[in-house]
This record gives sequence, structure tokens and C-alpha cells, in this order.
Amino acid sequence: MKILMVCLGNICRSPLAEGILKSKLNSKFSIDSAGTLDFHQGNKPDKRSISVALRHDVDISQQKSRPIQSDDFEIFDKIYCMDKNNVEDVLKLAKTAEQKAKISLILENDQEVPDPYYGNEEDFENVYQMLDIACDRIAIELLK
Ligand code: 4NP
Repeated sequence: MKILMVCLGNICRSPLAEGILKSKLNSKFSIDSAGTLDFHQGNKPDKRSISVALRHDVDISQQKSRPIQSDDFEIFDKIYCMDKNNVEDVLKLAKTAEQKAKISLILENDQEVPDPYYGNEEDFENVYQMLDIACDRIAIELLK
């Protein structure tokens, strides 16, 4: 089972989602993340994401930002987006109904993970907590 986490820059939210879900699953699952922008391509996650993750014993420091690409729709079984803009952007890149069906928000009930880029440490902690709950739900579902 292969899962892709997507946000805008792939430096704040989706690297956290990747690291948190990985920490809850074994290596039979393949988890990656990407951005809808290539602006930060090759960069490590934002320092604030690296440190909030470390405070919760999750190491995301070796990740590198990359943009989502067309192959991803074939490689991954499920594509989780952080907010509705991400869903819209990713849907535009999907070519078939089967590819579109892989895309959803990571939170339930139409809720979004807010972009913490212009925020503070508390905003990053809040994002971590939201993603931790979402990844618990996803891991339980995958391990059924
Ligand atoms: P992310 O946060 O989508 O959670 O990685 C952002 C990172 C960078 C920018 C915006 C959001 N940016 O405008 O560069």
C-alpha cells in the first residue's frame, strides 16, 4: 500500500503527515509527500516542522521537498491533501476517474489542515496534533 501526502510547498504540513504516518506503520507501507508547487524543490522541511516533529520523537529532517508529478497518480494508492486548494490543484493534474478517486482531504468532515507557514510555534503544534489524529485514523483503517 502506497500513500502520498500533499500540501502546497511540501515543507511544512505534508512532511509532518509523512513522518507521523510512517511512525505508526511498518515498512510494508510506503509513505511519501509532495507539494503542488516546485518552489521549495530539494529543500529540507521547514525548521519549525522539523522541531515540532522531534518534540514528538518523529524525525523528518532527512526529507526533501518535491513537486507532485503525473507518475504519482499511478504509483500511489491514496493521495491525502491538507486543504481544499490542494485538492483542487491535484484534481486538475489527475487524468482519469480512477486517479481522481484516489484524492481526498486528510481530515474528515470537509475540515482542512491550516497552512502554518506564516504562523508561530503554536500553529505548528496545532498542525501536528491534527495530523496525529488523522494518521491514527488512517493507520487503524490500513491495519484492519
Ligand atoms: P506547506 O506550507 O504547504 O504546508 O509546505 C507552505 C510552504 C511554503 C509556502 C506556503 C505554504 N510558500 O508560500 O512558499
